[in-house]
Amino acid sequence: MTASKVAPDGAENEPDRRRFLTTASSVAMGAGLAGGYGAFGAIAGRFLYPARPGDRQWQFVIETGRLSLGDSVLYRGPSGETINVTRQAEGGDEADFIALSSTCPHLGCQVHWEGQNNRYFCPCHNGTFDPAGVGTGGPPGDAGMALPRYPLKIDGGLLFIEVPTAQLADASAQGEVIDRAPGVHGPGHDPCLACQPKGRKA
Ligand code: FES
Repeated sequence: MTASKVAPDGAENEPDRRRFLTTASSVAMGAGLAGGYGAFGAIAGRFLYPARPGDRQWQFVIETGRLSLGDSVLYRGPSGETINVTRQAEGGDEADFIALSSTCPHLGCQVHWEGQNNRYFCPCHNGTFDPAGVGTGGPPGDAGMALPRYPLKIDGGLLFIEVPTAQLADASAQGEVIDRAPGVHGPGHDPCLACQPKGRKA
């Protein structure tokens, strides 16, 4: 009579247990990777496609009659971006106007329109831009930088601008004209002033 081998207690279930553990860990790893890639994809998508058409709104800026040729106003959008809206022609439609970011692409100082020189000017490092916002001098000119442009339209004598609203908790928030760009801003915004040695006036 052949003695049959008797497995130690529970040993016959060992392969099943191993299979179960392998499967469970694979599922857990897959779920973790899916979650991780999902979050990464969402973040990457936000940077790659920051503003869908629904994330922008047309907002009122000013009556067109209040801007004469060469005039410029500083508009602050509902998300906080500041924009120079300038009248550069008298043709009677939105092509007469241009809306360009007032934030210098070099180091973030405020750019303003200089009608007498037909250019935008950044006082921090003498950056200059042509009427279309293309850098022509100083660091922005050297680096081929340009001021971001915003779409404009006219409806019933009113000028409207299309601005991003993707970051807003309150979708009904409105932008407003806040005046002309006052040139150089204070320390904390203007890197030139922020770097002034103590006790020395700018
Ligand atoms: S920050 Fe505008 S030229 Fe440097």
